[in-house]
Amino acid sequence: MAKITKLDDIVSLCKRRGFIFQSSEIYGGLASCYDYGPLGVELKNNVKKAWWKSVVQMRDDVVGLDCSILMHPMVWKSSGHADKFADLIAECKKCNTRTRVDHLQAAAEDKKTDKEIELTKQLLDSMGGSSAEQTSRRQSDIGGAIDFIRQHAEHVSIDAAQAKPHDLSNKICPNCGAVGAFTDPMPFNLMFETQMGANVDDSMTMYLRPETAQGIFANFRNVLDTARVKIPFGIAQIGKSFRNEVTTKAFIFRTREFEQAELEFFCEPGTDDKWFEHWKEARFNWYLNLGLKKENLRFREHDPDELAHYAKGCVDVEYKFPFGSGDWQELEGIANRTDFDLRQHQRGIRTLNKWYETNGDLAKIELSGEAEDYQSGPLSYFDDQQKKRYIPYVIEPSAGIDRSVLAFLVDAYDEEEVRGETRNLLRFHPTLAPIKVGIFPLVKKEGMPEIAVNIYNDLKKYFNCFYDEKGAVGRRYRRQDEAGTPFCITIDGQTLQDQTVTLRDRDSMDQIRISTDALKAHLRDKLDM
Ligand code: GAP
Repeated sequence: MAKITKLDDIVSLCKRRGFIFQSSEIYGGLASCYDYGPLGVELKNNVKKAWWKSVVQMRDDVVGLDCSILMHPMVWKSSGHADKFADLIAECKKCNTRTRVDHLQAAAEDKKTDKEIELTKQLLDSMGGSSAEQTSRRQSDIGGAIDFIRQHAEHVSIDAAQAKPHDLSNKICPNCGAVGAFTDPMPFNLMFETQMGANVDDSMTMYLRPETAQGIFANFRNVLDTARVKIPFGIAQIGKSFRNEVTTKAFIFRTREFEQAELEFFCEPGTDDKWFEHWKEARFNWYLNLGLKKENLRFREHDPDELAHYAKGCVDVEYKFPFGSGDWQELEGIANRTDFDLRQHQRGIRTLNKWYETNGDLAKIELSGEAEDYQSGPLSYFDDQQKKRYIPYVIEPSAGIDRSVLAFLVDAYDEEEVRGETRNLLRFHPTLAPIKVGIFPLVKKEGMPEIAVNIYNDLKKYFNCFYDEKGAVGRRYRRQDEAGTPFCITIDGQTLQDQTVTLRDRDSMDQIRISTDALKAHLRDKLDM
């Protein structure tokens, strides 16, 4: 069982072992931005490779794409991000700190809704234990757990947030503690702005993309015309996205620069429910097959009032992070986006003249209505067999790479007693392990290092290997356990006589002897590479 119960524990583990560092640490750090260290970058690359293999490489109906981060600003007008991609915030009149309205805590005893209490009870109950003491402790945890969940809630649609009345008179500023000293709630757009062009006269305001998905919609026609795809098919992309999040402070869970892995799967209207179910199952199994424990993974259907107005359905894949009282948080959303995005971009194309007329002032532009024959517009699809044109529906599984990395890390973390000592290890699935094989000469003499280096040079062509000849072999094993390395090879006295080595398994610590000739095939089989 993982012993991590606090976010701080995982932060210090990641730093200690070179997985993740605070950005610009030598200058005191940059809030909400993180750098992946030597082990972290391997882990993250492996997560991305595993996603790509499952979503693109192993399928005949998905192709890949890599779009630029900066796109024509009209993309964001058409998608709705320019007008609606906002959180409702309030500013403290005493210290000017801005906070998301839905994350504000009440100064006095706060009223929790019945639904919050019920869901949180279920959550705490599912964490087990039935003694009277545990039950009473859980009851007292409920208030704290609700506060935690509220603080970490994801974006709510700005329309839904504005539609609700907000009484901030008893809310407390998280920075200075002032009570009820807030401005009226106001929308805060989450897109980062930047300027493009060297000349003051012709430079224009651009946006760092807040999701990779729109690059896929903008290239739908290009892919259709060049990749010989037929509906149903998908376009997949992994890349950086940027959001000027109001609330962060959750390590790599919510950052202002992060990586997404998104698939837009285009299908004929009427077949969308079937594909929605297909992708739900495929994506859930992806996490399970890479080793996340089943009891820590669940689906959460969105309530109708949470759904974007265009979405027909949405379900989140959630992971139970072991922080605080145990907290289910979104790893990935799977949405039925209907034909909304392609239709919006068709409207955007019809609006382009207004972009020039207003000198690119998005706030002054109103999107043109849809053409009467929008079903045969530039982003429609012609079905050869049925001889009909239509705008495809879209199923979108959208995953956060950094959140997956965090979940794979905490899920893999383990401690156990071995001969009176604590063994710390990361039980990564071999596909994700940053280093696959550690290679050690037992001692630095008798030709053992030379044999070990030869094995290292041979195996590193196929997998990430690590050569280590420093310290007692037991300590070298422990160092690799802590890095999550599934196998270690030791070259010893017997190797000199019969060309066999020991191969040690990280999880069981069992050792077998295997001939050097058989090593490569054996490891490729075990590592599935
Ligand atoms: N195209 C749909 C879309 O972007 P989303 O739910 O806003 O949907 C998808 O984002 C996934 O991206 C989330 O489930 C989460 O894993 C990840 N994500 C979103 N915002 C993030 C942030 N600020 N930091 C880290 N990951 C984030």
